[in-house]
Amino acid sequence: MKGVVLAAGKGERLRPLTDDRPKVLLKAANKPIIEYVLANLYPFVDEFIVVVRYKKEKLMRALGDEFRGKPITYVDQVEGDGSARAIYSAKDFVEDEPFLAVNGDIYFELDALKGLMHAFRNNDAALVVKEFEDLSHFGMIEVEKGLVKEVKEKPGKVRGYANLGIYIFKPEIFEFIEKTELSERGEYEITDTLNLYLKAGKKIGVASYKGYWNDVGRPWNLLELNEYLLKTKLEHRIEGLIEEGAKIIPPVYIGRGTIVRSGAYIVGPVIIGEDSKIGPNCFIRPYTSIGNHCHIGNAVEIKNSIIMDYSNAPHLNYVGDSIIGENSNLGAGTITANLRHDNGHVKVEIKGKLEDSGRRKLGAIIGHNVKVGINVTIYPGRKIGSNSFVGPGVVVDKNIPEDSMIVVKQEKIIAE
Ligand code: UTP
Repeated sequence: MKGVVLAAGKGERLRPLTDDRPKVLLKAANKPIIEYVLANLYPFVDEFIVVVRYKKEKLMRALGDEFRGKPITYVDQVEGDGSARAIYSAKDFVEDEPFLAVNGDIYFELDALKGLMHAFRNNDAALVVKEFEDLSHFGMIEVEKGLVKEVKEKPGKVRGYANLGIYIFKPEIFEFIEKTELSERGEYEITDTLNLYLKAGKKIGVASYKGYWNDVGRPWNLLELNEYLLKTKLEHRIEGLIEEGAKIIPPVYIGRGTIVRSGAYIVGPVIIGEDSKIGPNCFIRPYTSIGNHCHIGNAVEIKNSIIMDYSNAPHLNYVGDSIIGENSNLGAGTITANLRHDNGHVKVEIKGKLEDSGRRKLGAIIGHNVKVGINVTIYPGRKIGSNSFVGPGVVVDKNIPEDSMIVVKQEKIIAE
């Protein structure tokens, strides 16, 4: 059986982290999201079909042409946007047999696929659902006697079963995708295809999944997934060098070539990649993932954050509940604020609209190749676009677009 993984989307809601890469390549606990998906599909498939478009070269280079010995075929998404078009792109590659189709930007556990296989028996297709208190952000599946009755787009703040983006189809689904019309969002949605399929009298089995699932659509979802993975999966292992006088409280993973200098105090769960320099005298608190070739220097405190490869917080920084993209640098004394004084939820601008992150604590979301000067203050939930330069002393209280240069100039004060 083939495993079709949808990875062509632009990931607009995850800007600036997706400025230069598809969102499926963003890492939680130092591993790209798509690798967790491939690992789950692995026992069920003999080949992966990865549907690509946005920044596809980066994805193909990162994953290569196989995953643990099973081939990966990359397929360009056919014209048109949306999950239905993405699945349709695999039409000539799945042969005449049922195939799995999974969003490449979600995290789930193996049980979901086991349940899916079970729900597919005697039916024409199957999908996985999970019960949520509030379906404002999800497509809703109405279930009757273990089968899908109807699929509804984002029904609002109601309790019910959410569609998790994990399916098994027979190739006949392609005929129904051909008949699917453009949705109000301007995309071809597989949920609309499913309704056409139901109208034709087809039976779609439902697997109800109780485990952890995360749809990494927005920046704070990546922090949540990172936290979950470190909390539940991280094994204590030290492959780097720990100087005398450094304190490590398990579980902590330290990669090869990384040196942790004296006075560093690391409270797990924390993961640090390869060839990074940590300390002396820094405080790394739980749920922090630091990539390869990073530098965390003297008098720096980091908590609940993701620091991507080749990035540095080298002197006197506080980084809390934040994401720092690749090859970015914080100047000495730069601080991320992660809490509002009114204790309210931090709001973040997503595709031009202010969204409630649901979090009391959320810091900065910094893109790739960003240079932040000394003594910069970044307000909670603010974004700094990739390839930007933020000069010394700037107070970042508004989002900064990609490729910007922001400086504050000295006022000339003339003494009387
Ligand atoms: P999403 O709608 O969450 O992804 O699709 P997106 O379009 O990249 O996100 P935003 O709205 O711009 O932030 C779920 C999955 O389907 C894939 C995505 O890559 C993601 O894994 N997808 C989406 C495609 O492959 N093609 C598409 O046209 C749309």
